[in-house]
Amino acid sequence: MPRSQYDYIIIGSGIAGLNTALLARENGSTLILTKGQVDDCNTRYAQGGIAAAIGTGDTPNLHMQDTLSAGAGLCNREAVEVLTNEGPQRIANLIRWGVPFDTSHGEISLGMEGAHSRPRILHAGGDATGQHIELALVSRVAESDIDVLDYTLATGIVVENGRAVAVDTLNCETGVQETFRGSHIVVGTGGAGQLFKYTTNPEVATGDGVALAFRAGARVMDMEFYQFHPTALRLKCAPTFLLSEAMRGEGAVLRDKYGRAFMSDYHPLADLAPRDVVSRAIATEMEKTDSESVFLDVSHLPSEVIQSRFPTIYHFCLDRGIDITREPAPVAPAAHYMMGGIQIDTWGRTSVPGLYACGEAACSAVHGANRLASNSLLDTLVFARRLVDCSLGQAPEDNPLDDESMLLRRLPERSPVCATMPSPSIENLQDLCWRNVGINRNGSRLLLTARILNLWQRMMPAPDDRASWELSNMVLLARLMVESALVRQESRGSHFRQDFPETRPEWEKHVALIQEEV
Ligand code: FAD
Ligand code: SIN
Repeated sequence: MPRSQYDYIIIGSGIAGLNTALLARENGSTLILTKGQVDDCNTRYAQGGIAAAIGTGDTPNLHMQDTLSAGAGLCNREAVEVLTNEGPQRIANLIRWGVPFDTSHGEISLGMEGAHSRPRILHAGGDATGQHIELALVSRVAESDIDVLDYTLATGIVVENGRAVAVDTLNCETGVQETFRGSHIVVGTGGAGQLFKYTTNPEVATGDGVALAFRAGARVMDMEFYQFHPTALRLKCAPTFLLSEAMRGEGAVLRDKYGRAFMSDYHPLADLAPRDVVSRAIATEMEKTDSESVFLDVSHLPSEVIQSRFPTIYHFCLDRGIDITREPAPVAPAAHYMMGGIQIDTWGRTSVPGLYACGEAACSAVHGANRLASNSLLDTLVFARRLVDCSLGQAPEDNPLDDESMLLRRLPERSPVCATMPSPSIENLQDLCWRNVGINRNGSRLLLTARILNLWQRMMPAPDDRASWELSNMVLLARLMVESALVRQESRGSHFRQDFPETRPEWEKHVALIQEEV
């Protein structure tokens, strides 16, 4: 039987939630709330691996330089230093907890990915890294005294006297609503890929935690930066499925429909350019050649290398009639990772005392305007440890979330749309976001989208089940994204405005949003 009061309440059971819980339980009673099955999360699908400077000739400083340059001027340097310096110790902990990273001749194998200057990606089961991590952490939690409530949706964060004190929940199976009180409340609810028609993310990725924290008065930041992964399988008869960047790290080449390798036209690093560059290049090539996709070609590599290094991808494609050892696979960009989120400091603290955030739902600006491949899993490990240390009083008292150049805004009210507009539904939202808040954006389409979303917010009935809560959260999240994208009148990292195509030095600052009234 769960209690009504805990030292730690953690929302989410991906790497952020599970890892935080395993560290927190050493210091007090811990509850995990998760809205689906315990292993239903983005983490499970991670393919490429975890980046850490553990190889010969690599250093945290080199890892930091690569992270900063992918982040296009918007990384928080202190957060990046913490990430790259503390990363190797956190990986060692994961190995102690049983994650079986791949080895070669007794040494951990290190792969290459886009915009990394050294091979530094640890992987497990070839391309099944996330599955191995999730399995190891779930097993450890199951053996512990941590209480886990699955199929339990967090619907609200209760704030009393300016402090987060409890979480409202809805049991998705019985419909019973319950409130759990906690001394430390941690949001680890992951990303929001479901906002978009094409995404690598599973159905649980609806951005709930960011919406909950925003409604509770927490600041959100960098919401205009959403990463589109360049290479998701694009087949009419198959769900969107990631073809890992690690394939290009091993030598895979992007080709147009005539077989021409085009990436060297766009960047000196060609196929290993940063993700935002590759995604935009693919979108341009698709338009130029009037095609639904480009092609990822790995067929020049030995078949046994492909099958052992990418077993999940190989079998997924083969089951759909594509043998990647012999022929290229059709790919196109898909929504993948939310760089923005609940603003945290380098100790996981949000702007609301008692409320912490970790993982993809959080934003310390460690990834800036564009995340470097395989830095996300590392980010959750590093900042989970610091968050728990902070809850034990091991962090400095002050919470410096402000920097002078930051633009802090409230959500504006938008005038209603006069023309016929789509009704609020997940399909219409995904379509709207894909068309208007995707890889290429412009002011007039963003403004129209903001007005539609604002009207939807006014007309949607109060949510009462999982689906309606998720839709309500996603509409709010889309608004946060669109309003931030409207504010940023430049192009930088993953945010590309056709009406402001240049990067402007005066915009080297963050956009944060806060609720009108708390
Ligand atoms: P998640 O793993 O998504 O977990 C979120 C949890 O919160 C879930 O359990 C969910 O059910 C729960 N939840 C959500 N809302 C609620 C609610 N309202 N109430 C209760 N529970 C809720 N990153 C890398 O670094 N390397 C990679 O190789 C890599 N590959 C990737 C491949 C794919 C296909 C995808 C989709 C992502 C990949 N990423 C990779 C990104 C990385 O996997 C994620 O950023 C990371 O796993 C996020 O972890 P998380 O714990 O924050 O969120
Ligand atoms: C991939 O394997 O391409 C995904 C890696 C990541 O998102 O970091």
